Amino acid sequence: MNELQFVKEHASCYIYDEGQIRAQCRKLKESLAAFDFLYSIKTNPFPAVIECVGQVGFGADAASAQEVELSIQNGISPENIYYSTPGKTESDLAQCFEKCVLIADSLSEIAKIDEEAKRRQQVIKIGIRINPDFSMDSDSGVPSKFGMDIEQVEALELMLGACTSVRVSGIHIHIKSQVLNFEKLGRYYLKCFDIAKRISKLPNTSVEYINFGSGIGAVYDASLDAPVDLVRLSNMLDGMILENQNTLGARLYIETGRFVTSNAGTFYTRIVDIKHSKGKKYLIVQHGMNGFLRPALANLLQKNAGGADLPGQEPLYTSNHAFSFEVLNNASTREFVTIVGNLCTALDVLGENIEVKAAEIGDLIAVSNAGSYAYSLSPLMFSSHGLPSQFIRRADGKIE
Ligand SMILES: Cc1ncc(COP(=O)(O)O)c(C=O)c1O
Repeated sequence: MNELQFVKEHASCYIYDEGQIRAQCRKLKESLAAFDFLYSIKTNPFPAVIECVGQVGFGADAASAQEVELSIQNGISPENIYYSTPGKTESDLAQCFEKCVLIADSLSEIAKIDEEAKRRQQVIKIGIRINPDFSMDSDSGVPSKFGMDIEQVEALELMLGACTSVRVSGIHIHIKSQVLNFEKLGRYYLKCFDIAKRISKLPNTSVEYINFGSGIGAVYDASLDAPVDLVRLSNMLDGMILENQNTLGARLYIETGRFVTSNAGTFYTRIVDIKHSKGKKYLIVQHGMNGFLRPALANLLQKNAGGADLPGQEPLYTSNHAFSFEVLNNASTREFVTIVGNLCTALDVLGENIEVKAAEIGDLIAVSNAGSYAYSLSPLMFSSHGLPSQFIRRADGKIE
């Protein structure tokens, strides 16, 4: 069966491309050789994808107890799973206690972990997430629900001094997504390293790893965006890497965020009806926003902004050129259409007044850049239409 037939039988569905995922992983490893990488499970938790990034040697950036479990089930070992999120419950902490590296997000969470460790008569190594005194674009920080303010380091010092069963072995910082400018990223990493040096002086602390978080952006439209210059980024960090070797000797982690999978997925859905209304042609597809939310959000935000270029609202919205739509047929003519889903809301619009090949009922539509924040971020249960399927295309072209 060729791929088009396969998709026809299985639409609505997502197909992720293993070759592209591995190529993105290779780019990171080869350009930033001094770093290790943690795959951000939240971007795409499909088991075959996790297994693939685990095989190339990446650990996991897990944001829930379930993501910790998924990482283990798909071959990533507990010492390479870093679980960081605000608001972990006692049961999250107990469930994950020996299954990953816990990153405490607040002073009270450090106390909770200390309690759990005492109960188990263990001493546990944890990371701490810091909210720094800078942003990606400036030298001042912002209030945040994530991590502990570096300005509150005295309180952190007191807490760590009082804990008998917790040792800090690393730090985590993440402040911005989808950065394509290598200099911004470089300056950010250097400032994070300075924070790591400050934290290393606290009691019961030895900084064995620095997790710089995510931030490396994905290219959604190659005609408008240039990829991060990873080689120049790496060159900018040479001094820091040398200093680290001579001082902290910490492992340096970057979370992959969407970089690995964004371009490696396509969403396919079927045109189930075609309608003309007051001069507009509508292609009605089997799954609209309940299959892939982000194009619908992009359309909604752009419409409300009157077409103005909006700043990213990650991970919900990146830009108005993040997705392309292709009708999979052999038509030689093109037309302007509006692609909508079948939900009981007029907001269920994937793309408005877009040019595609002349379509017929039964044709498939392919939506690009559906590898990250796609299946996992969509309201799949809305109106109970059934879930899209997910597959991976192996290097030999086989779809599983
Ligand atoms: C801690 C952390 N790591 C990774 C990510 C994912 O990164 P990206 O937005 O680059 O896909 C996020 C997203 O906000 C995050 O908060």
